[in-house]
Amino acid sequence: MSLKSPVITVMTKAAGKAARHLKRDFGEVENLQVSRKGPADFVSNADLKAEKILREELSHARPNFGFLMEESGASEGDDTLQRRWIVDPLDGTTNFLHGLPHFAISLALEERGEIVAAVVYDPIKDEMFTAEKGNGTFLNDRRLRVSSRRRMDEAIFATGIPFKGLEGHERFLDEVREVMAVSAGVRRWGTASLDLAYVAAGRFDGFWEWGLQPWDYSAGALLVREAGGYISEIGGRSLSSKSPNLVCANTNLHRELDELLRKSRKA
Ligand code: IPD
Ligand code: CA
Ligand code: CA
Ligand code: CA
Repeated sequence: MSLKSPVITVMTKAAGKAARHLKRDFGEVENLQVSRKGPADFVSNADLKAEKILREELSHARPNFGFLMEESGASEGDDTLQRRWIVDPLDGTTNFLHGLPHFAISLALEERGEIVAAVVYDPIKDEMFTAEKGNGTFLNDRRLRVSSRRRMDEAIFATGIPFKGLEGHERFLDEVREVMAVSAGVRRWGTASLDLAYVAAGRFDGFWEWGLQPWDYSAGALLVREAGGYISEIGGRSLSSKSPNLVCANTNLHRELDELLRKSRKA
């Protein structure tokens, strides 16, 4: 059993409230207003409404904290520990708009540049993934561990497809070819925060994606770490950039997956 800390309680309550609205909108996607921010990057009034609810709930509970939100950007707080919420109100918008029941709310709490608490909530499956630095990862009340598989040919990996024109696609397809050749399979489910949560849960053995944004991966990265997984930039360096090319896996498979991806880029 997890003993929920006050901050996790604030985060799960906010996610639960925003999720009720998302679920209602998911039943009526044909009535949503949708616009396009870039190639295959959509935003709807469901994203915006969820973001507004999360901002209201979180700033009511912690008035001094700042924000970094996907749709409305950054706003500074006046907290002495420089705490801010990093928020993706609807991760997996494309799935959502197509009626695919695989999307999430992703909330991370950053303190002096380090992620200290995380919530990723899948409202359709009612799966609440939580983690706090030093206290482990939980799915609802159950403690999670990454998988213990050691063999690539038994492992399943998730990835995300970059929308960067033909060159990006070609290089990405090379990577997929390499990983498919040695593993038990590759999945592309379209919600990065859940890909990371599933690595934490041992459902996927690893995950990689190029050019994610802080709201896509900040919460999920803590879930993976606190469940005993290893996460880095492709090439092994620690996650440092704001938009990393990220690779994570259980500690048995991380190096092998990372080397495969590096090799495929050089070829
Ligand atoms: C996207 C999803 C997707 C990933 C993209 C993200 P959004 O987030 O996480 O899985 O492949 O890189 O942009 O736009 O649905 O919040
Ligand atoms: Ca988006
Ligand atoms: Ca996202
Ligand atoms: Ca989003």
